[in-house]
Amino acid sequence: MVDPATTPQEDIVAIDADVEHTIVPRSIVPPSTTTGDRHQTTSDLAPVKPRDTALTGAYVIAMCNQKGGVGKTTTTINLGACLAEAGRRVLLVDFDPQGSLSVGLGINPHTLESSVYDLLVSRKHIDPYDIIAESPVEGMDILPANIDLSAAEIQLVSEVAREYTLTRVIDLIREDYDIILIDCAPSLGLLTVNALTAADGVLIPLECEFFALRGVAMLTDTIHKVQERLNNKLTLIGILGTMYDSRTLHSKEVLDRVEEAFHDTVFDTLIRRTVKFPETTVAGEPITTYASSSAGAAQYRALAREVLARCPAA
Ligand SMILES: Nc1ncnc2c1ncn2[C@@H]1O[C@H](COP(=O)(O)OP(=O)(O)O)[C@@H](O)[C@H]1O
Ligand SMILES: [Mg+2]
Repeated sequence: MVDPATTPQEDIVAIDADVEHTIVPRSIVPPSTTTGDRHQTTSDLAPVKPRDTALTGAYVIAMCNQKGGVGKTTTTINLGACLAEAGRRVLLVDFDPQGSLSVGLGINPHTLESSVYDLLVSRKHIDPYDIIAESPVEGMDILPANIDLSAAEIQLVSEVAREYTLTRVIDLIREDYDIILIDCAPSLGLLTVNALTAADGVLIPLECEFFALRGVAMLTDTIHKVQERLNNKLTLIGILGTMYDSRTLHSKEVLDRVEEAFHDTVFDTLIRRTVKFPETTVAGEPITTYASSSAGAAQYRALAREVLARCPAA
């Protein structure tokens, strides 16, 4: 374990320099709303606009960071629940063989007869709706995963157009949802490349801790490669600070560094550290139902508004 208090400051400056060099996203949707007050999470924001009914087909967002434990799964569940609250038809795709998203919504991955894995690799036609399950949240469904998915990474290697495998699955169900959120595994392997290839936008959760920026240059490099070679519509929607602890100077310093490096790409909304989130996993439901009037629920509702503002097609 490295004690952040004794870690030299130069370290993070060097990382920033690296990030600054490679990070500038090629196509960021500029934030179209400003609340004036950064990190505002109260409910005095403009009401969510209804989706343009002329639009068809879901807007697909990949939650991506090859670091584990940064809040990808927590953000997928709670952002999804808030988007469903705002009237969107939402599908969450568990794309991590650990199946944490499934667990977090009360599904036992070990007892699943079929999962997203079967849709990816089966040669026979499978109806996705035989696998998609309803979540405890009205308007939000889940395509679950379990450890089988780890085999897909190897099996897909020899496939033609292997990076488009998830895109082909999503194309089967795209018309039935407004927003699809993909919870990526903590790696930059073929599964994550599939998620980025299927996505319209990518959201990067970053834990507000000392080494948050480590590896981010590699992540944005992967995003740029996918943009150039596989999916030129891919947009970096934003970077989300998670597990922020206002009691520590350290959290604030890290956030300042992230904002210096990424500017407006960082969401105004900040997700604060609270034990309520681990509790929701045990409860198998999002914070919007577990503790509807909590600060954590308000933060994810604010994030949902920002995401909708940054993604007009959602
Ligand atoms: N804002 C938060 N405050 C406190 N704990 C959190 C917060 N967000 C997530 N957690 C907890 O941190 C752990 C890792 O979060 P998770 O969303 O599973 O990360 P990832 O999907 O990136 O691995 C989980 O136990 C989760 O409950
Ligand atoms: Mg996860």
